[in-house]
Amino acid sequence: MKINPANSLRGTLVLPGDKSISHRAAMLASIADGPSRITNFLTAEDCLSTLACMQQLGVKAARMGTTVEINGAGKYGLRASGEPLDCGNSGTTARLISGLLAGQRFDTTLIGDESLSKRPMNRVIRPLKALGAEIEATDGKLPVKVLGRPLNASEVSLEVASAQVKSCLLLAGLYAGGKTTVVEPVQTRDHTERMFDWLGADISIEIRDNARHITVSGESELTARDISVPADISSAAFLLVAAACLEGSDLRLPNVGLNPTRIGILEVLKRCGVKVKVENEREASGEPIGDLVIEGGIGRQELTLLSGPLIPNIIDEIPILAVFGTQLPHGIEIRNAEELRVKETDRIAAIVRNLREMSISVDEFDDGFRVYPGRPKGAEIESFGDHRIAMAFAVAGLFSEGETTINGHEACEISFPAFFDALDSIVS
Ligand code: S3P
Repeated sequence: MKINPANSLRGTLVLPGDKSISHRAAMLASIADGPSRITNFLTAEDCLSTLACMQQLGVKAARMGTTVEINGAGKYGLRASGEPLDCGNSGTTARLISGLLAGQRFDTTLIGDESLSKRPMNRVIRPLKALGAEIEATDGKLPVKVLGRPLNASEVSLEVASAQVKSCLLLAGLYAGGKTTVVEPVQTRDHTERMFDWLGADISIEIRDNARHITVSGESELTARDISVPADISSAAFLLVAAACLEGSDLRLPNVGLNPTRIGILEVLKRCGVKVKVENEREASGEPIGDLVIEGGIGRQELTLLSGPLIPNIIDEIPILAVFGTQLPHGIEIRNAEELRVKETDRIAAIVRNLREMSISVDEFDDGFRVYPGRPKGAEIESFGDHRIAMAFAVAGLFSEGETTINGHEACEISFPAFFDALDSIVS
């Protein structure tokens, strides 16, 4: 894919559904009692992997465009799959479904693509075992065999700040005898908690000793209820940064998810002098949403170092923030983000390599990087099969000198299949 410099982004763009919420909607609607309709479901590869897994577990689901109708099988209505479940490239599918399957009355094998088969599963295997689960894996990686067993409720503290691990344990908690508490020292995205509540599960949250204590009862039943999925703020982030960096841009992104655990990107943009505002704030299926309006241009930069508890809130936006850093008067520094090393690719290495390819100075750290300001030079970029790397560097190409080529641009199929067409429709 070739990208050439652009002047501005103008117009209104309706973005695809939120990836995290779509995964959860497909899983929870499947174990709820009765039929429900999910609208604006993300029909990208990752969420289609989740939907296909649920169908393999015997759930009846039909998809018409971005609407999915699911006939919820009830909490104990899932059936053994004759074949392994293929999680594709999706870490969220593999981690969450492990929790869902641990307390079933049957065994399941999970597999994934080459990238997913290198990513850590011990982060869910270890705490699931603390609930009495039995899981077989070689070297803590896929393929993983989840042997369905009765689980014992317990209190588990998260060792990594990961919404995937938290959600896995909350799903397992639905099947444990008694009340399961997940202790979260650093807040991560809370879509699972919100959707449990939306569907009537018995869940409560308490802040104690500087940590969130999330308790779910194994007696919980989920009641089928329609779910409207907001546009994905992590997809919006690419366009927000592109608009900010192209003077004269004027862009509106309607119905974007504005969950407080996901809007760190907006705070960062504002504190870097970008004019971005929220209009028409409202709620949809238990999630805050609104329209984002952004004008091109960067003003006074008040923030250079992004670290600490902010990191889980902006975890998926770090590749595009690295690109943004090239246009900031003081550049940008990211620390405490070692989790990026175990994403779809080692994102720290991919960011550093590609920025250097574009003649930008970067320091690499174990847990992040520092980007120095400068105009990127068009170059040959590798996506390393990672959707967010492909899209972030496509955006860099919009304000680089000369032409940029993205090798492996089709990785955007994972979360934003129409990304390049969407960009084309608003670029001038
Ligand atoms: C996700 C959580 C994050 C994020 C991923 C989606 C989720 O991963 O990077 O894209 O839907 O729970 P971690 O929980 O591993 O940080």
